[in-house]
Amino acid sequence: MKLNIADYRRAAKGRLPRFVFDYIDGAAEDGSCAQRNRSDFERLSIVPRMLCDVTTLDHSVELFGDRWRYPFGIAPTGFNGFVHPCGDVMLAHAAAASGIPFVLSSASNMRLEAVRQPDGLDWFQLYVLRDRSIAEQMVRRAKAAGYRALVLTADVPVSGLRERDVRNGFRLPFRPGPAMLLDLCRHPLWLARQVAVGGPGFVNLVEHERRVPAAAGAAALTRDMDRGLTWEGLAWLRRLWDGPLLVKGLLHPDDARLALKHGVDGIIVSNHGGRQLDVAPSSIAALPAIVDVVADRIPILLDSGIRRGSDIAKALALGARAVLVGRATLYGLAGGGEAGARSVIELLAGEFARVLTLAGVASVRQLDRSVLRVEGARHPDAHGRCGPAGG
Ligand code: FNR
Repeated sequence: MKLNIADYRRAAKGRLPRFVFDYIDGAAEDGSCAQRNRSDFERLSIVPRMLCDVTTLDHSVELFGDRWRYPFGIAPTGFNGFVHPCGDVMLAHAAAASGIPFVLSSASNMRLEAVRQPDGLDWFQLYVLRDRSIAEQMVRRAKAAGYRALVLTADVPVSGLRERDVRNGFRLPFRPGPAMLLDLCRHPLWLARQVAVGGPGFVNLVEHERRVPAAAGAAALTRDMDRGLTWEGLAWLRRLWDGPLLVKGLLHPDDARLALKHGVDGIIVSNHGGRQLDVAPSSIAALPAIVDVVADRIPILLDSGIRRGSDIAKALALGARAVLVGRATLYGLAGGGEAGARSVIELLAGEFARVLTLAGVASVRQLDRSVLRVEGARHPDAHGRCGPAGG
């Protein structure tokens, strides 16, 4: 029986070869940032109000003219083809069926045109490689395919050091050693599915149907990031993309100031799920200072560490308009394909609705800092103004 995200994680662990599970589950270096992503959420409690009318709940949010049924979407994750051969389209279907957006990664293994759901709210995530013509063709195609927003990921000038991947020999170029071959033999269903599609490739790095082998594509993505990309580079993107443009991976309030100055339409506060700078703060700790700088001028989203519906409520109470979930839906996808991803969405949505009801909050718009308390803070602010970092 799968009652929570931890159960879906366990099921994914059983289904996937170890190197694939470790790739999705792992984090940078000591995993301390990933741990903070959880522990900082856990330090926050929600102080419920009683005898409020919670007969009907409004848990929907509006972003850039689109209404999301719940205030969360699916974060961009690369190599979803390793989790399931048609992983990207399965996640996109699951999201569309639930009325929430799916963000397709530049490092996806399916052509972006094939993933876009006509009735979906899909966004496209961009990595800018040194050869900027690759980003240009992806943005042009994303626009033609009807993606509704563009997300520039800013926190990967170089890939974080994921030690579990290194230990497993899951590095690039991909050359399975004896331990990995044994691992593959222990997962015949996974292997058969991969063999049937010829293994994942990086089809979006090239304009036409040509397939870029996974190793070459991943090597391009990890080695050739444009480390010279600066805020000034946003003007170049603006010329290519006239829809909503968000920057993902901000943690510093001064970067939020720069985002505003450079006309960004939205910010995603994120530490990449703890997969990049291991000494970075948790996203939930970084959020309040960014909310204060932005002062409602543009929407702020948050990801990293969402495992419960209550985490969504906490992020919204601290000023996020919505959140994204990365690993949670991947665990669902690994265990049960599209239906598994859908169950995870429903689980989080159900938990979120129950939290609102128990907290006496009838609408997401009523969530503010006054509902939160920081556990362990010596002097909880009488007005409820708090942040997990500042106490
Ligand atoms: C990611 N993430 C990510 N982000 C991005 O902008 N482009 C990408 O291609 C990827 N790839 C990727 C792969 C995997 C396996 C994971 C787990 C994550 C980061 C992702 O968008 C998001 O920031 C985190 O996953 C959020 O943290 P949680 O929800 O996984 O804790």
